[in-house]
Amino acid sequence: GEEQEQFTYEEYKETADWLLSKTKHRPIMAIICGSGLGGLGELLTNQAVFNYTDIPNFPKSTVPGHAGRLIFGNLGGKACVCMQGRFHFYEGYPLWKVTFPVRVFYLMGVKNIIVTNAAGGLNQDFSVGDIMVIKDHINMLGFGGQNPLFGHNDDRFGPRFPPMSDAYDRKMGKLLLAVGKELGYTNMREGVYCGIGGPNFETIAECRFLNKLGADAVGMSTVHEVVVARHCGMHILGVSLITNKAIMDYDSKVTANHEEVLETGRNSAKIMEKLISSFMQRVELN
Ligand code: 6GU
Repeated sequence: GEEQEQFTYEEYKETADWLLSKTKHRPIMAIICGSGLGGLGELLTNQAVFNYTDIPNFPKSTVPGHAGRLIFGNLGGKACVCMQGRFHFYEGYPLWKVTFPVRVFYLMGVKNIIVTNAAGGLNQDFSVGDIMVIKDHINMLGFGGQNPLFGHNDDRFGPRFPPMSDAYDRKMGKLLLAVGKELGYTNMREGVYCGIGGPNFETIAECRFLNKLGADAVGMSTVHEVVVARHCGMHILGVSLITNKAIMDYDSKVTANHEEVLETGRNSAKIMEKLISSFMQRVELN
């Protein structure tokens, strides 16, 4: 038969209804955990857990042993659904598969989403361990002709030509910065996240190029999820953990590597968890 190029509305709906039939939880916030930040999911109380492999229509993980889990539960007194592990373009998924869960959340009635990631710092004022509220993004894959909204537009999700100038919720961003300051975190930042396809890290020329274009951090996720979430009118908070400094200098003796990304994730996991759970206590949602 023909290769599938999009999910149908009925497939998203089937998955949403299946999940709603298997749990009494009715989340108002979705949280996508970035690399090394999956510990956030463990904080949820009164958990209902689903392996991605058991959920109808969910993309099949390409990495054995890293199946990923959807965790329903409460955080800061609010009903949440947490993706422990996300799908990446570099794993070989088309973007309409990468973003499948976002529309499922929408059809479950979730109107708010927190997207977290590990990112390389392009801004020379940033340090490893900084936490950056994403105020805007540059969708490099979109420039290159890869966008999750390509193809037939289903108006039940959103308009053919959605705006992106207001993708990130200012109020939630300001609140996260305020909560971080109250907790005594001096490494809270705000900036522009640039999403690239990966899986290789950038060349020096690419890092300089992206920084000149106005990007403060670079990573391999998030922007497609945000495009799909904004398309269906969700309120979005984006948070990057700066896990390493992007290499901008030909004299540099170090290279970007996944071990450093994971190590910074481990070192900052508790801070990120405290920050997000305090945010969830404070945020007013509908
Ligand atoms: Cl330096 N680049 C990209 N593309 N993704 C990253 C990263 C760098 N550091 C963490 N994730």
